[in-house]
Amino acid sequence: MLVRTLRTPVGSFRLLVDAYQDDLLRDRERTGAFVRMVCDHADGAEFADLGAGTGPLSVVAANAGARRVVAVERNPRRARLLERNLRRYAPRDVRWEVVRADARRVEVNADVIVCEMIDTLLLEEDFVDVVNAALERYGPRVLPPEVRIGRRPLEDPPRTPRYAPTDVRGAEPLEVIRTEGRIPKEFEYETPGPGYEFLTWVEYGGLVAGGSEVFCPGLRVRTPGEVVRGRRGEGLESLRV
Ligand SMILES: C[S@@+](CC[C@H](N)C(=O)[O-])C[C@H]1O[C@@H](n2cnc3c(N)ncnc32)[C@H](O)[C@@H]1O
Repeated sequence: MLVRTLRTPVGSFRLLVDAYQDDLLRDRERTGAFVRMVCDHADGAEFADLGAGTGPLSVVAANAGARRVVAVERNPRRARLLERNLRRYAPRDVRWEVVRADARRVEVNADVIVCEMIDTLLLEEDFVDVVNAALERYGPRVLPPEVRIGRRPLEDPPRTPRYAPTDVRGAEPLEVIRTEGRIPKEFEYETPGPGYEFLTWVEYGGLVAGGSEVFCPGLRVRTPGEVVRGRRGEGLESLRV
């Protein structure tokens, strides 16, 4: 167990973290963008943090005026640290609860949710399934409001897909995925060139989060065919080039 200080507009918090959460918090653009969106939308909300980790965004929501915070995390060790962080930092008048469960299956009846299960092309993590299930069951406002997909041509693409940190700025935009309605599971992008680096990022409050080692590194893909297809949430193995 480690301790990392998170400085936010609603306070400074010395959070209990594991190594994974610590790496995420050190990505300043990622953490800054998500902290800002939570600060902007938590006031008065019944708030749910789906995939809460050890709770940075839950703690911020509780201190940014949320009436109630439900923090869902399926990893038992992280859920224990999350509970300790909320016990220490949630104001007394805020109701909160930690739910150790798969966020695709819980009904938390929140009016605002944040889900930071975002990865490159939304391929490997449960973001799309979690958001779609929440929209269908209780129709919350979803943070982030959108996720951007782009690409950069590669002259010498690797034989097999490879992740690498990259700069997402200046990418050729392909799609803006908005989270106010059901997100399609399938995607298809034209690939006239021999290979591309696919990029995924979130822009919020002047911050551009993505392309780091821990948050949406670039995905370099050889593209001998005319399109690349895949299914969000179903992994790299669902990619067809
Ligand atoms: C990228 S971390 C985000 C942690 C924290 N919300 C933050 O922004 O720093 C995603 C977290 O979601 C959890 N997670 C992934 N899939 C999940 C699922 N289907 N249900 C519940 N938790 C899940 C992981 O264990 C991990 O702790």
